[in-house]
Formats: sequence, C-alpha cells, structure tokens
Amino acid sequence: MLKSPSSKYQRFDPVSLPNRRWPSQTISQAPIWCSVDLRDGNQALAVPMNVSQKLDMFDALVKCGFKEIEVGFPSASNTEFAFNRRLIEEKRIPDDVTIQCLVQAREDLIEKTVESLIGAKKVVIHMYNSTSPAQRKYVFGKSKEEIIAVAVKGAQMIKDRLHRLTAGGTQVTLQYSPESFSATEVEFAKEISEAVMDVWQPTPQHKMILNLPDTVEVCMPNVYADQIEWICTNLKNRESVIISLHTHNDRGTGTAATELGLLAGADRVEGTLFGNGERTGNLDIVQVAMNLYMHGIDPQLDFSDMSSLIHMYERTTGMTVAPRHPYSGELVFTAFSGSHQDAIKKGLSGYEQHKTIWDVPYLTIDPNDISREYREVIRVNSQSGKGGVAYLLESEFGIELPKDMQREFGPIANDIVDKLGREVSGTELKDMFWKEYIERDRPWSLADDSFHMETCGIHSFRCTGKVCHRPEVVFPGLPTEENKRMAEFVSVSLTDCSTVNLSWKPFTGQGNGPIAAFADALITDAGAPSFEVTTYREQSLSSGTEAAALAFIQIKTATGKLVWGAGVDTNIELASIKAVLSAVNRAG
Ligand code: KIV
Ligand code: ZN
Repeated sequence: MLKSPSSKYQRFDPVSLPNRRWPSQTISQAPIWCSVDLRDGNQALAVPMNVSQKLDMFDALVKCGFKEIEVGFPSASNTEFAFNRRLIEEKRIPDDVTIQCLVQAREDLIEKTVESLIGAKKVVIHMYNSTSPAQRKYVFGKSKEEIIAVAVKGAQMIKDRLHRLTAGGTQVTLQYSPESFSATEVEFAKEISEAVMDVWQPTPQHKMILNLPDTVEVCMPNVYADQIEWICTNLKNRESVIISLHTHNDRGTGTAATELGLLAGADRVEGTLFGNGERTGNLDIVQVAMNLYMHGIDPQLDFSDMSSLIHMYERTTGMTVAPRHPYSGELVFTAFSGSHQDAIKKGLSGYEQHKTIWDVPYLTIDPNDISREYREVIRVNSQSGKGGVAYLLESEFGIELPKDMQREFGPIANDIVDKLGREVSGTELKDMFWKEYIERDRPWSLADDSFHMETCGIHSFRCTGKVCHRPEVVFPGLPTEENKRMAEFVSVSLTDCSTVNLSWKPFTGQGNGPIAAFADALITDAGAPSFEVTTYREQSLSSGTEAAALAFIQIKTATGKLVWGAGVDTNIELASIKAVLSAVNRAG
C-alpha cells in the first residue's frame, strides 16, 4: 500500500445539498422489492445457473413474496431466453408477479428481449447504458451528448416494439438505469434520465421506473442519499416516476446506502438474497427486509423458513451464507460470552412472561420467527459462563439448576470444556452433570432396594437400609481433581463396582423429615462425617406416571464447606436420599 494514497486515490466529490431532508425522515413502510438474483446475481456466478436451477430459485422467490423478479438478460444468453419461454409457456408466473428483463440500448438485443417476453402477463423492460465520466471516456469514447443519444435511441427502439407485447395483452412497464449513476454527475444523470422520459412519456397513472444504481460504491452512504434526494427533488415530472435503488457493496455499506436512499425518497429496491452479485455483491434484500421487521414494519416479504431458503440458495448458486451474515448466518443467534448468555437467559424468560414486545438482550429478533431454534442460541465453550451452561441444561433437558448450584457446576463444566478444547453439545453437558452429581457413588453407596422410610409419630420419620463405604479410586497418573473429572468424562469408569466385593452395612436413622432421618442414619449409624442440609429443591423431569424426579440438596460440612448433590429416581423420596448421598460423596 502507498504511504500517501492521495497520490493515487481521491475523495469523491459530494453533491451540494445544504437543506437535505433525509436525515430527519423515518422509514414507515416496505418499499417495492425487486429481486435481481436471476440476473445480476446469476451473472456473477462462476458457473451460472441452468434452467432447472433458475426455476427452483424463481419458485422460492415467489414463495417469499417477491412481486417483481428480474429473470435475466435474455438477449445475452440462450439459457436465459429459454428460461423466459419456459416460465411463460408453462404458465409458471403467478398473475400478481411481474418479470423483468435487462437489455442494452441496441436494436438486435431489444428485438430478442421483446421476443422472449411474448405471452407474459406483466413485464418490465429494463434498459441501461453507462453514464459515469470514466465509462464515457474509457469504455465508449463518447461525449455526454453522444451517451444521451444512445439512451434516447434505445428508448425509442423499445417504444416502437411495445405493440408486439401489448397487442397480446401484456402489461409493460419501462425501466431505465443510468448505470454507474453514483459515479455520475447528478446534473448529467438527471439530463439523460429526462431525455429517456421524453421518449417514454410516463404519467402518474402509468409510471416508468428510474433505477439509480450504486453500480460500484464510490462514496459513503450519506452521499448516495444526497444524490437520491437531489434527483427526487430536481427531476421533472417526479410523480410519473418510480425511483428505484440498486446498490452494490464495494465499501461494505450497500445496506446503509439503500436504507438512507429510502429516507431520501426512493420507492423501490433491487437486490439479491444474501447479497450475491458481482465482486462484493449486490444489496442483501433479506437484510433490509429484516431490518424493517425488527422495527415492527411488515416487510411484505416472508423469510419464515430461512433455513430452507438458504438451502435453496446454496443448491442453486453454489455460494454459501457466511456464519456471521446478519439474520441468516448460522452463528447469528449464538452467544459465546458468559455475560451475553446470562442476559439472554433472563431476557428470554422475561419475554416468556409478558409475550408482548421483543426486548431480549443481544437478540435483535426472535430466532423462532425465521425457523431458527432456541437451542442454536447458546452453545457452550470454555468462555461460556454459568448462565450458558444452565440455559442449555434447561432448554434441552428441562433441568433447572438452583442458582447457587449453577455457580458450582458452571466452572466445573467450563474446565472440562476447556481441556477438551472444543464446544460441547447439550447432551455432553448433561453427561458431565450426571457424572459429577448423579452417578457419585463413592465413597458412600446405597443399596436402593434395601431402603425403607416410615413415619413414627407426628413429624417423626424413621429410615432403614444398607450402605457401603468404599474409598475413592486413585489414578496415580492423574494428579488433580480436574484431571480425574476429565478421565471420567472421556469414559474411564470410576464406578464399576461389579468386581468389588462390597460389604453392606445396615443403618437406622430418625428425624423430623425423610432427609433428616437419612442424614441421621448416615452420620450417627454409618459413620459418615457430620453435615447439615442447607437447601433442598426438587423438580420433575418429564410428565406422566413414569416421570422421574430430580432432587437437589446442598449440605454444609463440619468445616463450613457448602457442597451440592443431586439424585434422580421415579420416587421423589428416594431421589432426595440419593441427592444427600451425592453431596456427601462430593464433599469427600
Ligand atoms: O449495478 C448496476 O449498475 C446494474 C445495472 C445494469 C442496473 O446491475
Ligand atoms: Zn448491479
């Protein structure tokens, strides 16, 4: 790169528009949309679509609600000509959909374009010629007057052939694009557009479309907006013209340019799905439409089935949608940071309660509205906080960890994920939880079928059963507790007792509740270290008579350490007893 880029590049001269109005406008309704996927998008593909791929895409665009679709450049390729004929002859175009064809201002090309459209119900014939100083100088070697003459001649040639379509009942709208408009002097763009208007004679009842392309983004989007407002203000017979925007994305601001162009008075927007198109692409129509949607404006386009639309797009174009592409990307509804996950979790549960206006932090829209699932919202990696871990357990398995327990399990899970060095799924997370809490049967384990609880007087319970005490398995090569957990997670079994000769010891205990009775049995009869139960919570895991109960217990050891345990059983009493044992075992 150059040390002083000004020796090679220069700033684009903005339009003088001291009283610009667009900054204080707002967008309150959807523009007229026109998809140019099958033309501008298609011509930018390494392998252009074949007829059947184009049909596939056409049907999908119709399904999304596009009423104007630029189907091709029929004079430039036989495939595009054949495609038009198939659409028309097989009556594939719904009555409320207009097909549009691009053509240069040349007689033979105009002739072929008209021929390709015979029999259609509603068409737009879109003529363009390039108008910028660089195009005039290098590409055409023509003066401004000569460039105007090309446009006027082309406009007349089209007008002269219209009867061939209208005679058969085709409704024709005419469109002119001064290509490279944004790099053209506005006065000249106005002059050439008005010259075309003089030929086509649009009226408020039968408007023409004036499309003002940002063929190559050469300036900031506010400058494009100034250009659009300047044209809207100064063009003669404005009420007979639909002003259309056609932005590309060379400076990465195609969406902004279109939105500001709408503020500046434009009525119509051309673009493609996911921004396919020459170089950095065309405007991504999905983005502008979804931006309206997130402001509560009906975009008049339906992207409810975003996933199918992406599959269609990838199948027909061979392109992919980037994971962070606004709205459509795979990672758009994924939060990696713990604080984001926490906020999303709270926001989602708040939204569940009021169900009115969407105000969930970090999620611009409800992923569900475009067929994205909540489970895509959060994945757990080593950066995820306790909130992300808890959210995944709750959303995927209905496990509602008590707050304090989230604080305990979050770092344990993160540690394992960190050592694995990758993201983990909800199922893996649940496995970790099960290994850490539910499957803890050392040093103390209970012979389930020996356990019995009975009441003995008011507020008094007595339990009997058998426990055995086995020391922890020691892995000499695994120095830390964390490594041991890792070993568990990668399936080194710590709990296989079948080969061990267990000696079961009977116990009896009494207390003012089942948990207190069991705690008494463990401490006073079986000889476990002293503890007291500080918190107890239970929940059911699934509905129906076979529903499993999940119990959470927090204990405080003699040294004041707070430790959580969890137990699962179809019998809620047994679930809580197992939770006590899990906490005692975890206390070590
Ligand atoms: O980008 C452009 O200028 C075009 C025109 C042909 C409308 O695609
Ligand atoms: Zn274009």
